[in-house]
Amino acid sequence: MDKYIIDGGRRLHGSVRAQSAKNSVLPLFAASVLTEKQVRICETPPITDVFCMAQILRELGADVSFENGSVLIDSSDAHSHIISSALTRELRSSVFMLGSLLSRFGRAVIAYPGGCDIGLRPIDLHLNALKRLGVRISEREGYIYCECEKLKGAEIVLDFPSVGATENIMLAGVKAEGRTVLQGAAKEPEIVDLQNFLNGMGASIRGAGTDEIEIEGVPRLNGIEYTPVKDRIEAGTFLIACALCGGEVEVEGVTAENLGMLLHKLRENGCKIHTKNDKIYLSSTGRLKCNRRIETMPFPGFPTDLQAQITALNTVSEGGALIVENLFETRFKYVPELRRMGADIEVRGRNAFVRGVGSLHGATVTCGDLRGGAALVLAALRAEGVSEVLDLSHIDRGYSDLEGKLRALGAEIKRVRI
Ligand code: EPZ
Repeated sequence: MDKYIIDGGRRLHGSVRAQSAKNSVLPLFAASVLTEKQVRICETPPITDVFCMAQILRELGADVSFENGSVLIDSSDAHSHIISSALTRELRSSVFMLGSLLSRFGRAVIAYPGGCDIGLRPIDLHLNALKRLGVRISEREGYIYCECEKLKGAEIVLDFPSVGATENIMLAGVKAEGRTVLQGAAKEPEIVDLQNFLNGMGASIRGAGTDEIEIEGVPRLNGIEYTPVKDRIEAGTFLIACALCGGEVEVEGVTAENLGMLLHKLRENGCKIHTKNDKIYLSSTGRLKCNRRIETMPFPGFPTDLQAQITALNTVSEGGALIVENLFETRFKYVPELRRMGADIEVRGRNAFVRGVGSLHGATVTCGDLRGGAALVLAALRAEGVSEVLDLSHIDRGYSDLEGKLRALGAEIKRVRI
């Protein structure tokens, strides 16, 4: 197991290029099973969620190889429709493999993806939508059994704009018989990226990025070489790091539109921000004002995946802030670790009440989940003195070379094996 040793208090300066978006690459891997032709996904980040998804495809019989930053996927020999419980437990988002497997094989078996550290994360919206497309579903001993003669297009309404359910419906609908119209779709940029990827393979989808997506089923899909959209959550993490530590940073690869609400909130804190195409420039004195209220919402609202990081920023800003987490019921598990560094935060249910303090002090803290772990790193970069951040396996799921990128911006951070 590795840990970070961070000597806090340094301002950040320089530029950093965002990686390809984890939450786009994962559904693109699932989509690659829809064709027997070769798929190349360029600039794929070497993160453990990607390696896990590669393992899932290999267990189905696909050939997956990594070569200088790209991933080559050939699922012509894929023959299995079963995803093991170990891999589903490892990677909850494997649930959107259901749409691909049903489209390819007419059957899919997946272990029920249990809850995780940020919430129960049910999949009722996925399963109800698949039933609308003609899928018969039964659940036995912790496994979900799905089968259908042929996926048939349907009108589907999502009660909640679930990202994964929207992706599952797109994957199941692209080769279904007839037209699928999805209302109440998620509008995240990663949904638009999946539409572009599938249309590049010969699908006929329109409306991604709005709350209504139309899919005309096509008989088959071709191969594709594709570079995914960049990671707005990783980019946002670096912007918040600079807001917190003070300094000036330029983040490349992500547009202001894809980070809209975050930039609005960082300007509210007192950061100076200007943007040009896919470059975002931020400067900060390091001592900012608290955001009075932040509510996480589906895109284009404030992203839940940046909730922990902006909470860390507010712990040393002036005044107080109410952070409301509307998407996941237990996404404040990192708060006790921030309190060990001197943060003044009280959590009641989905609300975190932050009172800004003058400074944080170094401490030994432990990551419990991916984005909570990132928040602990950011707090340690600001804290006075040395901190140790343990259990980096959570961070490695979604950030490639976080320590290298932060060091290049002037942070005093090193990764050691324990
Ligand atoms: C995706 O998860 C992302 N993961 C998450 O990022 C992100 O936090 C989330 O979308 C919200 O933006 C990937 O894309 C791989 P949802 P997903 O379905 O699809 C409830 C990260 O840190 N819900 O939009 O699982 C659910 O409980 C990760 O990168 C149901 O009730 O999110 C939650 O409250 C964490 N029934 C809400 O919807 C369902 O069938 C949002 O879930 C499905 C979801």
